[in-house]
Amino acid sequence: MNNKGSLTCVGTGITLAGQITVLAKNYLESADQVFAIMPDYMSEEWLKSINPNYKSLQYLYQEGKSRRQTYREMTEEVCHAVREGKKVVLALYGHPGIFACVGHFAISDLQAEGYSAQMLPGISADACLYADLGIDPGTYGCQSYEASQFLFGGIEPNVGAYLVLWQISLAGEHTLKTFKTTKDNLKATVRLLNKYYPIEHEVIIYEAPFLPIQQPRIEKFPLKELPEIELKSISTMVIPPLTPLKLKQEALDEFGLNITDFGQDSK
Ligand SMILES: C[S@@+](CC[C@H](N)C(=O)[O-])C[C@H]1O[C@@H](n2cnc3c(N)ncnc32)[C@H](O)[C@@H]1O
Repeated sequence: MNNKGSLTCVGTGITLAGQITVLAKNYLESADQVFAIMPDYMSEEWLKSINPNYKSLQYLYQEGKSRRQTYREMTEEVCHAVREGKKVVLALYGHPGIFACVGHFAISDLQAEGYSAQMLPGISADACLYADLGIDPGTYGCQSYEASQFLFGGIEPNVGAYLVLWQISLAGEHTLKTFKTTKDNLKATVRLLNKYYPIEHEVIIYEAPFLPIQQPRIEKFPLKELPEIELKSISTMVIPPLTPLKLKQEALDEFGLNITDFGQDSK
């Protein structure tokens, strides 16, 4: 085994060129080999300008092929270069470990084989979302799920907190072989969400800008209209709280506190 190879997974942020950390850029510049899964041609060109030893792994995505297989193949390609003794950087847009499994897989495989493998944080879509929508997740709390996982699991949301559904454009898509969902799946999504939220509850489709000169997409509409709304692979759905944050006397009892201490009604 050649233990000299190493892997660093970095995030490039969402907005082109401006959201990468100084540390991540240093690793990119000094890598023997850069692999990347970037959303578009312009970010690929930008990465190539940082390090010409660049290879996109996008070619492994194919309509009809299971994404599970694609991710395993991507992991294998990255690990192979490390095993050859190269200092490898895997660059992923946003944060490399948020709703992105290849970095996690590769790090886990390589560490098990005794290689040095690490992940550096990056600016993710939800980091942009908090900034553009003016949401502090600390105010009411925030739940974050992959849309299909949330729907298939019949998960009951806390309606007093924000609910963020990632990959809403794939909601209900179970084959992992195609890149968009159907209107029927979106209607089913509305039916399931309507168990907890009124059909008129205002929800948001959010898209962080790719270029610094662009504006974010912040489209607000009643839940019932979801099947008619244009969804892109970068769309994230945000469901604002329905009810105010409540305190429970039963929980406060554990701290010797009374609900009236917080100015709330004891009823
Ligand atoms: C495979 S995940 C990648 C997330 C990425 N690693 C990150 O840190 O943001 C793709 C999902 O991230 C969200 N996403 C990606 N780009 C986005 C953008 N520009 N604006 C809003 N959400 C985005 C969407 O929910 C999309 O379906």
